[in-house]
Amino acid sequence: MIKRLGILTGGGDAPGLNAVIRAAVKTAVLTYNCEVVGIRNGYDGLVDEGTTRPLGTNDVSGLLARGGTILGTANRGNPFARKVIHNGEAVVEDITDQVVNGYHRLELDGLIVLGGDGTLRIGHELGQRFGLPIIGVPKTIDNDLGGTDVTFGFDTALQTATEALDKLQTTAESHHRVMVLELMGRDAGFIALHAGVAGDADAILIPEIPYDMDVICTKIKQREANGRKFSIVAVAEGAKPKGGQQSLLRQADQVFVARLGGVAHQVGAEIEQLTGKETRVTVLGHVQRGGTPSAFDRWLATRFGAAAVRLAAEGGWGRMVGLRNQTVTDVPIEEAVAVVKRVDPDGEPVKAARNIGIVFG
Ligand code: F6P
Repeated sequence: MIKRLGILTGGGDAPGLNAVIRAAVKTAVLTYNCEVVGIRNGYDGLVDEGTTRPLGTNDVSGLLARGGTILGTANRGNPFARKVIHNGEAVVEDITDQVVNGYHRLELDGLIVLGGDGTLRIGHELGQRFGLPIIGVPKTIDNDLGGTDVTFGFDTALQTATEALDKLQTTAESHHRVMVLELMGRDAGFIALHAGVAGDADAILIPEIPYDMDVICTKIKQREANGRKFSIVAVAEGAKPKGGQQSLLRQADQVFVARLGGVAHQVGAEIEQLTGKETRVTVLGHVQRGGTPSAFDRWLATRFGAAAVRLAAEGGWGRMVGLRNQTVTDVPIEEAVAVVKRVDPDGEPVKAARNIGIVFG
């Protein structure tokens, strides 16, 4: 019997978080007569006072199509390594005891955690080391999480990226320019690959296939020779040149992951130099994480939210809901975060793109 569940959202926001919260609350209340406590700002909400709120069906009304997360999130809220200021100096502390105490203070039967690999890894550790009963729900626009065919948020980000490419096509064609679009994707190039194909890019640069400027420039020159005086290049933020490194705006430290950015400007400048073609660069950035979720993401998020509560009611702690072959299923969180998902450079989707003349550098 579940009587009281907690729910939190961690990591970068993604379209569909609110739809999962709505479905989980409705399922808990309507199917199991179970209360739900919303925890604000990821795991931080278990530590800080006054950061929880009861969630009833009225509180989640109207949330299905709303982007972001009503609970707030934190992508630097790792309780195993939290930066705190002591006597004016920043120190990194393990505050998991406070998280565990916060969890027990709320008298919960379990905790539903919506997050990507970082958030779910923390959830798994809290379960293993302190026995916290956790259920995971896979979120990320990057779609790079194992244990599921797709994460919610990816489809909406893909639509946004594809629309951007469509808009760049017309201006590229009118001005006879090369347009370079930088898309999100730290270590996985799913957004750039899928949007690049859907948005008719001529070159797609992804982290899984280090690029060679000569290949990209040859493609642009070939198009030019064939009368196609414009080209479109889709670049994942984590793409890197052959033998080179990813472009960073800020190095990683004990607490923060590296902040990526700059690769599109680098690629754009080199294209202009090597081909003599006027080139413009657009960085789509966090626009990809915002906005109303697509119909597919609303549908997936709703199924995931309901399945997470059913899993809690069955005592499936330590597991994550996911989609396999169109069916909602569940796997151990440990398994989902053990092997992160990447674009297969030899897989059919890359092959199809190459077949129609798209180059990967
Ligand atoms: O994980 C999703 C993601 O969109 C990455 O592709 C990107 O590197 C990161 O979030 C940026 O996060 P933020 O700017 O919010 O720290």
